[in-house]
Formats: sequence, structure tokens, C-alpha cells
Amino acid sequence: MTAISNEKIPNNVNLSEDKKLQRALEQWQPSFLNWWNQMGPEGFQARDVYLRTAISTHVDGWAHYDFVKMPEYRWGIFLADAVPDRKIGFGDLLGQPVWQDVPGEHRNTLRRLIVTQGDTEPASVEQQRLLGQTCPSLYDLRNLFQVNVEEGRHLWAMVYLLHRFFGRDGREEAEGLLERRSGNQDKPRILGAFNEPIDDWLSFYMFTMFTDRDGKYQLLALAESGFDPLSRTTRFMLTEEAHHMFVGETGVQRVVQRTAELMKQDKNEDARAQGGIDLPTLQKYLNLWYSLSLDLFGSEVSTNAASFFAAGLKGRAKEEKFEDHLAMEGVYPMEVPAAGTGALEKQDVPLRNAMNEVLRDGYVEDCQRGVDRWNKVLADRGISFRLTLPSRRFHRQQGIFSNGLHFDPSGKPLSKDEWARRKDEWLPSAADRAYVKSLQAKAVVEPGKIQNWVAMPPKGVNAQAPEFEYVRA
Ligand SMILES: [Fe+2]
Ligand SMILES: [Fe+2]
Repeated sequence: MTAISNEKIPNNVNLSEDKKLQRALEQWQPSFLNWWNQMGPEGFQARDVYLRTAISTHVDGWAHYDFVKMPEYRWGIFLADAVPDRKIGFGDLLGQPVWQDVPGEHRNTLRRLIVTQGDTEPASVEQQRLLGQTCPSLYDLRNLFQVNVEEGRHLWAMVYLLHRFFGRDGREEAEGLLERRSGNQDKPRILGAFNEPIDDWLSFYMFTMFTDRDGKYQLLALAESGFDPLSRTTRFMLTEEAHHMFVGETGVQRVVQRTAELMKQDKNEDARAQGGIDLPTLQKYLNLWYSLSLDLFGSEVSTNAASFFAAGLKGRAKEEKFEDHLAMEGVYPMEVPAAGTGALEKQDVPLRNAMNEVLRDGYVEDCQRGVDRWNKVLADRGISFRLTLPSRRFHRQQGIFSNGLHFDPSGKPLSKDEWARRKDEWLPSAADRAYVKSLQAKAVVEPGKIQNWVAMPPKGVNAQAPEFEYVRA
């Protein structure tokens, strides 16, 4: 079951036994490659890149490293092993056997969940397609490409489900996933954060730290699904996703470290004077990507979330940690803006309606652990500034704190005018963005060298040295 076949489409789902499905996916494959060649990393498609590829889904086999040209990457369909006698772990169907096929009554909802997840995968490749041209180092360049090819594989993962279980509608959705474009006015990607530009490397690190981590929580919730093929697909995606968050968290950490070093070199502790990124600017980028990523969890109070949970479609992250899997009783106390005035009022939300917020709680804690590690770098170097996660109310475009309401990073309500006057204190201004980009104007592609604003990594990839030639000229 875990061996990955060496077919045109590598897979561990016995694709060759389902000729019709195999043909359909083989027809989609050239469209995917066409999309990759158009929208994938620009200027590097013919290069040899030191990449990780799955050769089996076993712990010891899925991380195989070799030099590959990206268009020849072995994108395929890999499911985690089936859990024998798996039962639905939450909601109204608690304890019933999981489904190997899509129940008719949940067909549209499941398709929507899969398409929404699937859409984020190619979107991020599109957002990051020009970054190679300004890379800080070959190590970073290779990590960018590893993330990109794996997002491509995640698209394959979702397209497999659409083709295999959703017939003609699924095939049409699979086409649509290659037709929308990040940031395009006429055919944008589905979710907001995936239409934002990622055109500098600080944004890339923040995106992989905060936005890929939203992905982790969505995948954890889908891994609980009663629709077993979705659960097995997302469980394997999670193993790949961990690397993306590593790139983000350690990327920001290397910036923090370098900023601290440059501050110590300057008589006024001015990182910018030494060609680095000052801590207040780092905080603004953090505020931006964290708040955009919070939006991806959906509204704090949601009847959709309640019905996904009731029906066994989408659970909580690590559902087994919870004692009560029905969530019929109990409330989630929330501060909710009152209609009209926007003044915050305490409200007890029935637990099932608060499932998005429960998922967001785990996410916020996980983000905080990363921020604590960054702050330790500052503390160890005797710098008193601390990075912080802004209030969940800050800069929201989805949910109960959006719709014309404004809050500062501490969560205090602001008038529209005050927000407009002060938002550049909290979010990257045009000048901040121009400054950050100016530090990355010239790509550094000499092995072992790096741009001035970010520190070298302490270790390389797969026991190679940091100065290894990860992308060959
Ligand atoms: Fe992904
Ligand atoms: Fe990712």
C-alpha cells in the first residue's frame, strides 16, 4: 500500500487499476505542467535543484533528496496508510464507520471544502513566482522551490479527490483550479490572503510562518473528516507542510538574529543604518501576515462550521484531545461587537457555532510558540524589544471584527478616521516595503554568501553544509 508506483503519475492508490480515472488524470497532467511552466518559479525551470521527493509514504522513504529540474519533479498522488476500522470521531455520527465514498447529501459541501483548500495550493506558487530573482542565498532559493513544488503536489492531492469522487463536476473544478490567478481582478483565487502579493523575502518568511500554518490547522481539521480519502490525503500533506513552516519560522528567526547583530554594531542600535531590517518594521510585517491569516479561519460565529462538525465533515485539530466529541452542550464565551455601535459585549456562543474560533485558538497558541522563540534570540543578545502577536480584532477582513470596524493592535476600538491616520504605524507602509525591497535588489547566488539583512542558517538541508550549491547554475 505504501509503495509509490513509478508510472506516468506516481501514486500509491492503484491508479493503473482504474483506467477511466487514470485517463482523466493523464489528460489533466499537461494542463498542470502548462500552468507550472507559465506560473511557477520564473527563470529557474531549467536549473538543477536539490529537492526532496517522496518515493514511499513510509517515514524512512518519503524524504529522498536529489538534483531535479522542477518541471520534472515527481508530482503524484500519495495517501497516508488507512487506519483499520476507523470510526467518525465527532459530531452526530460519532462512532459510526468512516465513508469510503462521498455521501450524496454531503456532495456539494465536501466538494466546496476540497476546492477551497485546493485553490490555496497553486495560489501560493503564483504569489511567489518572482522571488527567485531576488533570493538572499542559494539555501533560501532551494527552500523556496521545495515549498513551491510541494504546493504543486498538494494541488494534485486535491485534484485526485475531485476526479475520483466527484465525476464531471469534479473534473470541471479541477480545470478551474488552473484557471484562477492570484491577485487577478477578473478571476481571483478564492481566499483573501492568497491574492496578496508576496514580492519580498520578508513577506515570504511571514507567509510560510503564518499563512502556511493556517494550512496546517485546516488540514488537521480535515484529517478528522468522516470522508476517509480526504483524511488520508490531508494526513500525508501535513508531513510536507511541516517543512514550509520550518522555512517561515527559521527564516524570520534568522532575520531577527541578523537585526540584533546589526543593532549591536551601531552606536545608536539602528539596524537600518547598518543595512538591516529594524524591529518595528519586522513587527509591521508580522501584524500584516498574522491578521490576513486569522481571516482564513472564517467567522467567529458560524452556522456552517456547526453543520460541518455535526455532519462529521470537518472536526477540530487533534479531536482526540477533547473529552466531549459531541459539543452539543457548553458555550464559548466571546466578546462580540454589538450591532450599530460596535461596542464589545460578552456573549456565550453555542460551542458548535464557535468551531472556527476553537480551531483559531490552537493556531494562535502555535504562532505564539514561534514568537517566543524569536524573542529569546533578542533576550539572549540583551535587546529589550519584544515581538508580539496583535489582538485577534486587529485588521480583520472576515468575521465579526470586520465590516467597517477598526481596532489597534491591542484590540482597542478605533474610529475610521483614526485608523486611516494611524494604520502606517502598524502595517508596512509603501516606504517600508520599498526599503525592504531595496535590501534584496540583487540576488545572491554564490554558494555560502548571503544578503546583509538575514543570517546564514546554522545547518544546511539533509546534512549538507549551509554553503552547499543547492541550485546549480
Ligand atoms: Fe500546501
Ligand atoms: Fe504549504
